[in-house]
Amino acid sequence: MDEKTWWIIVGGSKRLGLALARQLAEKYELAVTSSNAPEEYDELSKLSTRANVRRLHWDANDPQLTSRMMTDINALRGEGICLSGAVIVAGVFPFAPIGSWDVTNLQKTWLVNLTLPYLAAQSLAPCLKEGSCIQFILDTCVHRPLLNRLPYSSAKTGLTCLVHGLAQLLAPNIRVVGHAIGPMLPDEEANPAFLQNRTLLKRLGSPEEMCRAIEYAASSPFLTGEVLTLDGGWRWA
Ligand SMILES: NC(=O)c1ccc[n+]([C@@H]2O[C@H](COP(=O)([O-])OP(=O)(O)OC[C@H]3O[C@@H](n4cnc5c(N)ncnc54)[C@H](OP(=O)(O)O)[C@@H]3O)[C@@H](O)[C@H]2O)c1
Repeated sequence: MDEKTWWIIVGGSKRLGLALARQLAEKYELAVTSSNAPEEYDELSKLSTRANVRRLHWDANDPQLTSRMMTDINALRGEGICLSGAVIVAGVFPFAPIGSWDVTNLQKTWLVNLTLPYLAAQSLAPCLKEGSCIQFILDTCVHRPLLNRLPYSSAKTGLTCLVHGLAQLLAPNIRVVGHAIGPMLPDEEANPAFLQNRTLLKRLGSPEEMCRAIEYAASSPFLTGEVLTLDGGWRWA
């Protein structure tokens, strides 16, 4: 039986997910998923030498995703690994103004932002240790939708429903928490000065601040069914 403490990060190969993986690797053994095959995301091999890092190939566009998840999770269980924490980070952030929507691009946005978290939660829940917390990374757009990214905003808002409902379904053994985060790592096309000016605190958040919120939720046994907002006051500005 493996007595080490294992966490899984769904979407932990780059940017915020990788920052979280780096931080958690200081304390825990990790399973990290990516839509790319393990040999294609080598950043993870540079993580703390103390951590054992399993790389799993979970692509939201894979029609066999449900069975792949079950196979991977059963393989972990077969080794005696029981997860103590799960964070679903994966997402895409497409610019999608009205007029550009079609079946293909809506489906693509919702597959990664909504379907993947739902399937991951369903597969992971039976494998989590009693008292653990499953956490989802949402967006402060759940409070005020981004008008040029309504499909993305709808998906993240849909995840609030998952947080509230799953907390009831999995209680009292497993807790469920969401994080509605504001701008932290803007993509290349974004204007960071504009974004930081739109927060009350006049700055971007940092990956470390997101990690702190995740660790807070993991270590707060009376917290479940909540979406915590960490956005520098973006939603009030
Ligand atoms: N960055 C910010 O400032 C910010 C602000 C608010 C909310 N958020 C939310 O925070 C989360 C992380 O943001 P980020 O900026 O780090 O996002 P990102 O760079 O776009 O990465 C998100 C993750 O999603 C995974 N992913 C993408 N397509 C996938 C697919 N088809 N199947 C499975 N996984 C897939 C990526 O891994 P692979 O490519 O390896 O598969 C990656 O690890 C997202 O949910 C985002 O909506 C971010």
